[in-house]
Order: sequence, then structure tokens, then C-alpha cells
Amino acid sequence: MNRKYRRTVIAGNWKMNLLASDIKAFAEDMKKLAPRAKKCDTVICVPHVMIPAAAKAFKDIRVCVGAQNLNENPSGAYTGEVSAAQLRDLGVEYVIIGHSERRQYYGETNILVNKKVHAALESGLRPIVCVGESLAERELDITNERITLQVKTALANVSASEIRRVVIAYEPIWAIGTGKTATTEQAGEVCAVIRSVVRSLYGARTARSVSILYGGSMNEKNASSLLSHPDIDGGLIGGASLVPEKFATIINAANIE
Ligand code: PGA
Repeated sequence: MNRKYRRTVIAGNWKMNLLASDIKAFAEDMKKLAPRAKKCDTVICVPHVMIPAAAKAFKDIRVCVGAQNLNENPSGAYTGEVSAAQLRDLGVEYVIIGHSERRQYYGETNILVNKKVHAALESGLRPIVCVGESLAERELDITNERITLQVKTALANVSASEIRRVVIAYEPIWAIGTGKTATTEQAGEVCAVIRSVVRSLYGARTARSVSILYGGSMNEKNASSLLSHPDIDGGLIGGASLVPEKFATIINAANIE
């Protein structure tokens, strides 16, 4: 973490788990367990249908509500889809874009990710753009090329003022939901590559203000090591964000200078 220039962001990704009726108790637990949460930016990205309940319960504990996906179009005949403006209207502040599960199961491409980034920014949402390599790509030693292409495409035509509202999450696919975490060095190295891509596009001053997170089996045990790396500005947390004790431990670790 480098608090001098950028914000720490701890974002939970609930994926397709829990129910709206679980949220109140979750928020009450978090209030007790992570009283210092307000010092860093805490976000929980919930399924769309749970947004109203989350917005109500999380207001009190200063946790921002995030969504896990949005449609790239502003409005229209897209049955079953949800627009950026509809998310904003419910008080959503962040939206995950290009998560590897969406790329893998729903065919999302780098180009679509770029369209969604623009849709989010135009409505005032902060995109959390996910990038990451597969195990095969890491073994072929093409991680940096893969990540560079993903970041450059996601950010195409994003202006210098807009980039300050973008959060990038490095999530190696082989580490998501597998219990296999990248080492602090591996994660830090790729986060530094991401920052160098942002620097090449927007210059050094802007690049140092962009928050770059690590995600992939981050938990209450490995968070403080990962977050101690100067190039890792927070986490995108799946499994461990479902358990208040675990998520609170990670938030509290993020507050330790
Ligand atoms: P995980 O998920 O923490 O369960 O590995 C992370 C993510 O998919 O964002």
C-alpha cells in the first residue's frame, strides 16, 4: 500500500452467494468487528437483486455498495440486463468489470470490457477492472504480455481525468477460488507491471494515483503480507468476504500502516 498517493480499496465480491435476508446480520457483525473500516474504502459487490437491501444496511457502517456486472448500453431492449444508470439510481458506487468468471462463462472479451468501462464512467460509477493470466499463460512466461493487452484494451479512450476513478484488480485465474494465492512478490510484480502500463498511457503522476488491487484467494491469513507490498493497494476478495470475521480481519489489516 502506498497511502501517500492513492486510496486503499478492500472490495468483497459475493458472487452468487447469500440472500438479501442475510445482509442485516452481516452488517451488524461488521460494525462490531471492523470499527476502523471507514479509514479505508470498503466495498461489497452484491448480486443485483440484493442492492436495495445492501444499500440500506451498509450505509450505517460506511461500506459502499458495488455491483458485479452491468450492460454496456445506456438503455433499451436488452431483456434481463441492467444499465449503469439503473445501478447508480440505487446508490451503487462501484462495479466489477471483466471478472474472469464473466470472461470464461459469458464470453466477455477485452473489447466488451472496454465498452463496459465507458458505460460505468459515463454514469459516475467507479469500475473495478479485472485482469489476470491463466496458469498455462504463466507457465509459458507470457503473463506480462497478457496483462498489458488486457489493461490497454480496457482503458482505450479513457481520459486522464476518468482514469483517476478506475480501480484495477490483478486476479490470476489460477488463484481464484482455488486456495492457491500468488506470493506477495508475484502479485506485487504484476501490479507493478500494471502501473507501468498506466504510466505509459497517462504519465507518472496519474499512474501513482490509481489503486491497483490483488485478488485470488486473499484471506485473513495472507492479507497483511500481500497488503504490505508497496504496489498492492488493496484486495478483491471472494470467499473470505462472505464471512464477517474473515472480511473484517482483512479490513483491519489494511488499516495497519
Ligand atoms: P476468491 O475470489 O477470493 O474466492 O479467490 C476472488 C475473486 O474472484 O474476485
